[in-house]
Amino acid sequence: MPLLIKGGRIITAQDDYEADIYCADELITAIGHDLDVPADTEVIDASGKYVFPGFIDPHVHIHLPFMGTFAKDTHSTASIAALYGGTTSYIEMVCPNRSEDTLEGYNLWKGMADGNSACDYTFHMAVSKFNDDTAAQLREIVADGITSFKVFLAYKGFFGVEDDELYETLKLAKELGVITTAHCENAELVAQLCDELLAAGKTGPEWHEPSRPTRVEAEGTGHFASFLELTGAAGYVVHLSCEAALKAAVDAKLRGVELYVESVIPHFCFDKTFAERPNFEGAKWIMSPPLREKSNQKALWDGLRMGLIDTVATDHCPFDIDQKAMGREAFTAIPNGIPAIGDRVNMLYTYGVSRGDLSLKRFVESASTKAAEIFGLTQKGRIAVGADADLVVFDPSYRGVVSMKDHHVNNDYCGFEGFEQDGKPTDVTVRGQVAIRDGVFVGDTSRGRLIRRTPAY
Ligand code: URP
Ligand code: ZN
Ligand code: ZN
Repeated sequence: MPLLIKGGRIITAQDDYEADIYCADELITAIGHDLDVPADTEVIDASGKYVFPGFIDPHVHIHLPFMGTFAKDTHSTASIAALYGGTTSYIEMVCPNRSEDTLEGYNLWKGMADGNSACDYTFHMAVSKFNDDTAAQLREIVADGITSFKVFLAYKGFFGVEDDELYETLKLAKELGVITTAHCENAELVAQLCDELLAAGKTGPEWHEPSRPTRVEAEGTGHFASFLELTGAAGYVVHLSCEAALKAAVDAKLRGVELYVESVIPHFCFDKTFAERPNFEGAKWIMSPPLREKSNQKALWDGLRMGLIDTVATDHCPFDIDQKAMGREAFTAIPNGIPAIGDRVNMLYTYGVSRGDLSLKRFVESASTKAAEIFGLTQKGRIAVGADADLVVFDPSYRGVVSMKDHHVNNDYCGFEGFEQDGKPTDVTVRGQVAIRDGVFVGDTSRGRLIRRTPAY
């Protein structure tokens, strides 16, 4: 059924104006006033509301065997939670570990998502080793439309690559015209510091941050940038958490390295005192890179406003409290990750736009448009005739408090519990079909499609 979104204030990365949007056959087909539409058109009244392009989360984990357990979500639960929060496309990390086959990993992840997601998605392909088979397998995966790689400089011996493997990966990425995303922490320093802390009896979650201090991340970021510079490949730092790493990234940008920067909503909203909460409660907020000293949050907000940080993602990675308890005796065994897929847009709007100094356009750019541009999602992140009709009608007058009772992810706590929230999506569409109507999911968990991309670097 065709759809008309009427009377809203359209906000994109470039524009801010009032108009109606008409959608047919999955696309936006007209934008204007007094549009002539068929009698059977479904109408959403957006007066008094913003209309944003569907938001894109460029860093999520859904299927993830990690630290002796599995992240809790399914593609169905994660995509429903995403849509409630205004996210209409996500990029999942395909993460086979070093002992697993790259291509088999790709097919496993692809098969799990296929037919189970309520919104569109694509993947970053992790390269956790580089052996005789890897190049041919990666060529096949890129030919299937996956045009971004992922490397972990951390998680030594599991997901982490050695420097020679990093070099080979980036040379291949350059040749194939794909971008490489990277988790930037120096694995050796993390391993040494963890051993020293545990040997000194420092075993609680509050020691996670000291085991990977900001210098460890800055070193990893600079290290990745040096490899990019010397191979000529394009890169993207994921979940950058601190001022020191941002300086390393900006330094590389100034040298002409093609490097993009992502920070994630937990690092904007939580400082390290969350992970220091007593009686092991802090384990809920253990992720890597860790939550930082509060001063780093100002650097992230300033960097985002100024465009030094390109995108805001989630690094959504949910574990239950009893999974976190695997690390009661040693913080090194606490599964790393915080659920956030449904909270990103609302928290960024509340603390960036409504209560901060982030402009509406920059909000849209960093949470949608820029990710589409960097990762080649050419039909997404825009409100324009011919673009996919992924749209978010957003009520800025809503006031509420984040609560587990409104949550849709598949785990048993919410890190943002009790945070005040200004504004929320009321209606969300996926290629012209309404998936959230008046704040209720009415979509279809088999509608989501794999977005195949073409190399662009
Ligand atoms: O703590 C995190 N970030 N968990 C997910 C895996 C990763 O490093 O992205
Ligand atoms: Zn990571
Ligand atoms: Zn991640």
